[in-house]
Amino acid sequence: MSRLFSPLTLRSVTFANRVAVSPLCMYSAVDGVAQPFHFAHLSTFARGKAALVFSEATAVEPAGRITPQCLGIWTDEQRDALKPITAFIDSMGCVPGIQLAHAGRKAATSSPFAGGGKPLATDDPSGWHVVGPGVEPVAPGFQEPRALTESDIADLTQSFVTAARRSLEAGFKVIELHGAHGYLLHSFLSPLSNTRNDGYGGDLPGRMRFPLEVCRAVRAEIGESIPLFFRISAIDGRQGGWSLDDSVALSRELKAAGVDVIDCSSGGISGAPRFRQTDDNKPLDAGSARGLGFQVPFAERVRREAEVLSMAVGVIVDPHQAEDIVASGQADFVALGREIMHDPFWALHAAQALGVDDDFAMWPPQYKWAVDRRAQIKRDLA
Ligand SMILES: Cc1cc2nc3c(=O)[nH]c(=O)nc-3n(C[C@H](O)[C@H](O)[C@H](O)COP(=O)(O)O)c2cc1C
Repeated sequence: MSRLFSPLTLRSVTFANRVAVSPLCMYSAVDGVAQPFHFAHLSTFARGKAALVFSEATAVEPAGRITPQCLGIWTDEQRDALKPITAFIDSMGCVPGIQLAHAGRKAATSSPFAGGGKPLATDDPSGWHVVGPGVEPVAPGFQEPRALTESDIADLTQSFVTAARRSLEAGFKVIELHGAHGYLLHSFLSPLSNTRNDGYGGDLPGRMRFPLEVCRAVRAEIGESIPLFFRISAIDGRQGGWSLDDSVALSRELKAAGVDVIDCSSGGISGAPRFRQTDDNKPLDAGSARGLGFQVPFAERVRREAEVLSMAVGVIVDPHQAEDIVASGQADFVALGREIMHDPFWALHAAQALGVDDDFAMWPPQYKWAVDRRAQIKRDLA
């Protein structure tokens, strides 16, 4: 019996297995609108039978995009362009999920493959003025943000709510809020980036307030039937930064605010994500390890101590490794990024490696009869 390939029902949604496609920015949208590339990209993972296929970080307002080429969902046109994608994922027996995001201080950069992921020049006509909890930039060379007022925070909460409504209209069955990697919600959580002295800063409850208000408002909008995930950076990995203890405390509050699954990533508060394996508040070394499943212990501790479901992510590559993570109770889902880009049929291949789909029953029928024959030919040739 494989736990990785056992179903799980959350609220009204049943996941066929525990394999999720992690959100993966493709930097290929036009005015925030999904293009044929997005259809091809996301539908491939559904043919590959990952149970849960997340969209890339999808901005709730124009200034929330990481790059001018990021997906958005602040217009009806953007919503409608996503409908064929969700319909196809659904038709494969998979669950379409969307990651709703605001890039905050880390917005207005170039894409990694066409500009090196650097902040856009202030006179670049495709750029915009970024916002954050305060006026401190992410790192030298990044823009100085405009500090959000309390009224801006209320407006942004409403932007998340409207984006959640459009997401359901677009056919998504799971919503994830992006609270990691130094983007807006994470930048309110971390003491390294949130230097406010009003009710949205200061102590832990103050720093958690905006992300929790967003969760409560989104849960109220989407009702009780839709699973809500929240991605955290479980540690900043910087001296004086957000710690794993903070993540456990936050996760308890997120659960009370209507979040079902904590997606445990890490890093990113001061620029590109750089991670340590275990110590949560030591300075980073450049060569710190990002070994196999290096963030799994975060998902395990959050799951155990906050008594909430968790998703593990980060260098999960091998079917047996993934099986062990779920079977040993370290996490309820595994999310794959680069490995599943390399092999979009990873879930189907993993099911075979674990001996749970010897006869290709999981494969789309359009492929099954032919890969059956391929297997026979290989046996004959052996
Ligand atoms: C091309 C690419 C795009 C990514 N885009 C996002 C994103 O939109 N949202 C997010 O939370 N993480 C994003 N990430 C991080 C991944 O979701 C994942 O957490 C990370 O790659 C670690 O998992 P892996 O080792 O399986 O790749 C991205 C990573 C890659 C490689």
